[in-house]
Amino acid sequence: MDGPAASGKSSTARSVARRLGFVHVNSGLLYRAITWWALDRGIAGDGPALEAAVPGLDVDFVPAREGFDVSVEGTRPGPGLESPEVTARVSAVSTLPAVRDVVLERLRRAGRRHEIVCDGRDIGTAVFPGADLKIFLVAEAGERSRRRLRQRGTPFTDEDVERETRRLEARDRLDRSRPLSPLRRAPDAIEIDTTAMSPDQVVDAILELAAAAFR
Ligand code: CDP
Repeated sequence: MDGPAASGKSSTARSVARRLGFVHVNSGLLYRAITWWALDRGIAGDGPALEAAVPGLDVDFVPAREGFDVSVEGTRPGPGLESPEVTARVSAVSTLPAVRDVVLERLRRAGRRHEIVCDGRDIGTAVFPGADLKIFLVAEAGERSRRRLRQRGTPFTDEDVERETRRLEARDRLDRSRPLSPLRRAPDAIEIDTTAMSPDQVVDAILELAAAAFR
Protein backbone atom coordinates (compact mmCIF):
# COMPACT_ATOMS: atom_id res chain seq x y z
CA MET A 1 0.00 0.00 0.00
CA ASP A 2 1.59 3.25 -1.12
CA GLY A 3 0.58 6.88 -1.20
CA PRO A 4 1.52 10.42 -0.21
CA ALA A 5 1.94 11.70 3.35
CA ALA A 6 -1.08 11.32 5.63
CA SER A 7 -3.19 9.60 2.97
CA GLY A 8 -4.32 7.10 5.62
CA LYS A 9 -1.99 4.26 4.65
CA SER A 10 -0.90 3.22 8.12
CA SER A 11 -4.28 3.11 9.83
CA THR A 12 -5.84 1.45 6.77
CA ALA A 13 -3.03 -1.09 6.49
CA ARG A 14 -3.34 -1.87 10.21
CA SER A 15 -7.09 -2.56 9.94
CA VAL A 16 -6.77 -4.56 6.73
CA ALA A 17 -4.01 -6.69 8.27
CA ARG A 18 -6.11 -7.34 11.38
CA ARG A 19 -9.12 -8.38 9.30
CA LEU A 20 -7.00 -10.71 7.12
CA GLY A 21 -5.02 -12.16 10.02
CA PHE A 22 -1.84 -10.74 8.48
CA VAL A 23 0.91 -8.66 10.09
CA HIS A 24 1.08 -4.91 9.45
CA VAL A 25 4.54 -3.66 8.44
CA ASN A 26 4.90 0.14 8.41
CA SER A 27 8.02 0.91 6.36
CA GLY A 28 7.97 4.60 7.32
CA LEU A 29 8.77 3.58 10.92
CA LEU A 30 12.19 2.30 9.82
CA TYR A 31 12.99 5.54 7.96
CA ARG A 32 11.80 7.46 11.00
CA ALA A 33 13.91 5.30 13.38
CA ILE A 34 17.07 5.93 11.34
CA THR A 35 16.27 9.66 11.25
CA TRP A 36 15.60 9.71 15.02
CA TRP A 37 18.95 8.02 15.67
CA ALA A 38 20.80 10.36 13.28
CA LEU A 39 19.29 13.43 15.00
CA ASP A 40 20.32 12.02 18.37
CA ARG A 41 23.89 11.60 17.09
CA GLY A 42 23.92 15.02 15.43
CA ILE A 43 24.54 13.60 11.94
CA ALA A 44 21.05 13.91 10.40
CA GLY A 45 22.29 16.66 8.06
CA ASP A 46 25.55 14.90 7.22
CA GLY A 47 24.90 12.57 4.27
CA PRO A 48 28.38 11.03 4.06
CA ALA A 49 28.50 10.28 7.83
CA LEU A 50 25.06 8.71 7.66
CA GLU A 51 25.88 6.66 4.58
CA ALA A 52 28.98 5.33 6.39
CA ALA A 53 27.15 4.50 9.64
CA VAL A 54 23.90 3.01 8.39
CA PRO A 55 25.10 -0.32 6.93
CA GLY A 56 26.25 -1.45 10.40
CA LEU A 57 23.29 0.01 12.26
CA ASP A 58 21.28 -2.28 14.54
CA VAL A 59 17.82 -1.26 13.35
CA ASP A 60 14.88 -3.57 12.77
CA PHE A 61 11.28 -4.39 13.51
CA VAL A 62 10.65 -5.96 16.91
CA PRO A 63 7.46 -7.78 17.90
CA ALA A 64 5.03 -5.61 19.85
CA ARG A 65 1.64 -6.21 21.45
CA GLU A 66 0.04 -5.75 18.06
CA GLY A 67 2.26 -6.12 14.98
CA PHE A 68 5.69 -4.53 15.03
CA ASP A 69 7.51 -1.73 16.78
CA VAL A 70 11.03 -0.65 15.74
CA SER A 71 14.26 -0.70 17.66
CA VAL A 72 17.46 1.18 16.81
CA GLU A 73 20.72 0.45 18.63
CA GLY A 74 18.74 -1.21 21.42
CA THR A 75 16.26 1.65 21.95
CA ARG A 76 12.60 1.83 20.98
CA PRO A 77 11.99 5.52 20.23
CA GLY A 78 8.19 4.99 20.38
CA PRO A 79 6.33 8.33 20.09
CA GLY A 80 9.69 10.02 19.35
CA LEU A 81 9.35 8.63 15.82
CA GLU A 82 6.48 11.03 15.15
CA SER A 83 8.21 14.17 16.53
CA PRO A 84 8.16 17.31 14.34
CA GLU A 85 11.99 17.17 14.13
CA VAL A 86 11.94 13.61 12.76
CA THR A 87 9.07 14.42 10.39
CA ALA A 88 10.93 17.47 9.05
CA ARG A 89 14.13 15.49 8.30
CA VAL A 90 12.88 12.03 7.33
CA SER A 91 12.36 12.67 3.61
CA ALA A 92 15.91 13.99 3.19
CA VAL A 93 17.36 11.00 5.08
CA SER A 94 15.23 8.66 2.95
CA THR A 95 16.93 9.84 -0.25
CA LEU A 96 20.27 8.22 0.78
CA PRO A 97 20.96 4.93 -1.06
CA ALA A 98 22.54 3.26 2.01
CA VAL A 99 19.45 4.06 4.07
CA ARG A 100 17.09 2.66 1.42
CA ASP A 101 19.22 -0.51 1.11
CA VAL A 102 18.99 -1.24 4.83
CA VAL A 103 15.24 -0.66 4.93
CA LEU A 104 14.66 -2.76 1.79
CA GLU A 105 16.50 -5.69 3.33
CA ARG A 106 14.50 -5.50 6.60
CA LEU A 107 11.18 -5.27 4.74
CA ARG A 108 11.91 -8.21 2.45
CA ARG A 109 12.95 -10.30 5.43
CA ALA A 110 9.67 -9.50 7.19
CA GLY A 111 7.87 -10.43 3.98
CA ARG A 112 9.61 -13.81 3.82
CA ARG A 113 8.72 -14.62 7.43
CA HIS A 114 5.13 -13.42 7.61
CA GLU A 115 2.01 -12.73 5.58
CA ILE A 116 2.09 -8.95 5.60
CA VAL A 117 0.29 -5.79 4.68
CA CYS A 118 3.10 -3.30 4.09
CA ASP A 119 2.69 0.45 3.63
CA GLY A 120 5.05 3.17 2.40
CA ARG A 121 6.07 5.00 -0.76
CA ASP A 122 7.87 2.41 -2.91
CA ILE A 123 6.37 -0.88 -1.72
CA GLY A 124 4.58 -1.75 -4.98
CA THR A 125 7.32 -0.35 -7.23
CA ALA A 126 10.60 -1.38 -5.55
CA VAL A 127 10.20 -3.46 -2.39
CA PHE A 128 7.57 -6.04 -3.37
CA PRO A 129 7.05 -5.69 -7.14
CA GLY A 130 5.39 -9.12 -7.13
CA ALA A 131 2.86 -8.32 -4.36
CA ASP A 132 -0.52 -10.13 -4.60
CA LEU A 133 -2.40 -6.85 -4.33
CA LYS A 134 -1.20 -3.26 -4.74
CA ILE A 135 -3.17 -0.26 -3.52
CA PHE A 136 -2.30 3.41 -4.07
CA LEU A 137 -4.16 5.64 -1.60
CA VAL A 138 -4.66 9.31 -2.41
CA ALA A 139 -6.66 12.18 -0.90
CA GLU A 140 -6.79 15.95 -1.41
CA ALA A 141 -4.01 17.73 0.47
CA GLY A 142 -6.37 19.86 2.61
CA GLU A 143 -8.27 16.78 3.75
CA ARG A 144 -5.02 14.97 4.53
CA SER A 145 -3.82 17.82 6.75
CA ARG A 146 -7.16 18.02 8.57
CA ARG A 147 -6.97 14.28 9.27
CA ARG A 148 -3.41 14.60 10.60
CA LEU A 149 -4.39 17.54 12.83
CA ARG A 150 -7.49 15.70 14.09
CA GLN A 151 -5.27 12.71 14.90
CA ARG A 152 -3.29 14.98 17.28
CA GLY A 153 -6.49 15.61 19.23
CA THR A 154 -6.03 19.36 19.89
CA PRO A 155 -8.19 22.16 18.39
CA PHE A 156 -6.86 23.76 15.20
CA THR A 157 -7.50 26.81 13.01
CA ASP A 158 -7.64 27.33 9.23
CA GLU A 159 -4.08 28.68 9.42
CA ASP A 160 -2.94 25.45 11.09
CA VAL A 161 -4.50 23.51 8.20
CA GLU A 162 -2.69 25.70 5.66
CA ARG A 163 0.65 25.30 7.46
CA GLU A 164 0.21 21.53 7.71
CA THR A 165 -0.76 21.35 4.02
CA ARG A 166 2.45 23.17 3.07
CA ARG A 167 4.49 20.71 5.17
CA LEU A 168 2.81 17.64 3.67
CA GLU A 169 3.20 18.97 0.13
CA ALA A 170 6.90 19.76 0.70
CA ARG A 171 7.48 16.18 1.90
CA ASP A 172 5.51 14.77 -1.05
CA ARG A 173 7.57 16.86 -3.48
CA LEU A 174 10.80 15.45 -2.04
CA ASP A 175 9.41 11.89 -2.01
CA ARG A 176 8.21 12.15 -5.63
CA SER A 177 11.32 13.79 -7.04
CA ARG A 178 14.12 11.69 -5.55
CA PRO A 179 15.96 9.59 -8.13
CA LEU A 180 15.93 6.38 -6.07
CA SER A 181 12.54 4.67 -5.54
CA PRO A 182 10.40 7.80 -5.73
CA LEU A 183 6.80 7.87 -4.55
CA ARG A 184 4.88 6.62 -7.58
CA ARG A 185 1.87 4.44 -8.34
CA ALA A 186 2.95 1.06 -9.72
CA PRO A 187 1.27 0.43 -13.09
CA ASP A 188 -0.66 -2.51 -11.61
CA ALA A 189 -1.67 -0.71 -8.38
CA ILE A 190 -5.33 0.17 -7.84
CA GLU A 191 -5.79 3.81 -6.92
CA ILE A 192 -8.36 4.72 -4.27
CA ASP A 193 -9.21 8.37 -3.63
CA THR A 194 -10.24 8.47 0.03
CA THR A 195 -11.09 12.21 0.21
CA ALA A 196 -14.82 11.58 0.66
CA MET A 197 -14.61 8.10 2.21
CA SER A 198 -14.76 7.02 5.85
CA PRO A 199 -11.94 4.82 7.20
CA ASP A 200 -14.32 1.82 7.28
CA GLN A 201 -15.32 2.35 3.66
CA VAL A 202 -11.66 2.33 2.58
CA VAL A 203 -10.95 -0.85 4.55
CA ASP A 204 -14.03 -2.59 3.13
CA ALA A 205 -13.09 -1.61 -0.43
CA ILE A 206 -9.61 -3.07 0.02
CA LEU A 207 -10.93 -6.27 1.62
CA GLU A 208 -13.16 -6.79 -1.42
CA LEU A 209 -10.17 -6.35 -3.72
CA ALA A 210 -8.16 -8.75 -1.53
CA ALA A 211 -10.90 -11.37 -1.67
CA ALA A 212 -10.83 -11.18 -5.47
CA ALA A 213 -7.02 -11.13 -5.64
CA PHE A 214 -6.59 -14.16 -3.35
CA ARG A 215 -9.35 -16.23 -4.93
O1 CDP B 1 2.76 8.55 7.99
P1 CDP B 1 3.33 9.55 7.01
O2 CDP B 1 2.60 9.51 5.71
O3 CDP B 1 3.49 10.91 7.55
O4 CDP B 1 4.82 9.11 6.67
P2 CDP B 1 5.58 7.74 6.92
O5 CDP B 1 4.89 6.64 6.19
O6 CDP B 1 5.86 7.59 8.36
O7 CDP B 1 6.95 8.01 6.13
C1 CDP B 1 7.83 9.04 6.52
C2 CDP B 1 8.80 9.34 5.38
O8 CDP B 1 9.64 8.20 5.16
C3 CDP B 1 8.18 9.64 4.03
O9 CDP B 1 7.82 11.00 3.86
C4 CDP B 1 9.30 9.24 3.07
O10 CDP B 1 10.25 10.28 2.93
C5 CDP B 1 9.98 8.08 3.78
N1 CDP B 1 9.53 6.77 3.28
C6 CDP B 1 10.10 6.32 2.09
O11 CDP B 1 10.92 6.99 1.50
N2 CDP B 1 9.76 5.09 1.61
C7 CDP B 1 8.86 4.32 2.25
N3 CDP B 1 8.57 3.11 1.76
C8 CDP B 1 8.25 4.77 3.42
C9 CDP B 1 8.60 6.02 3.92
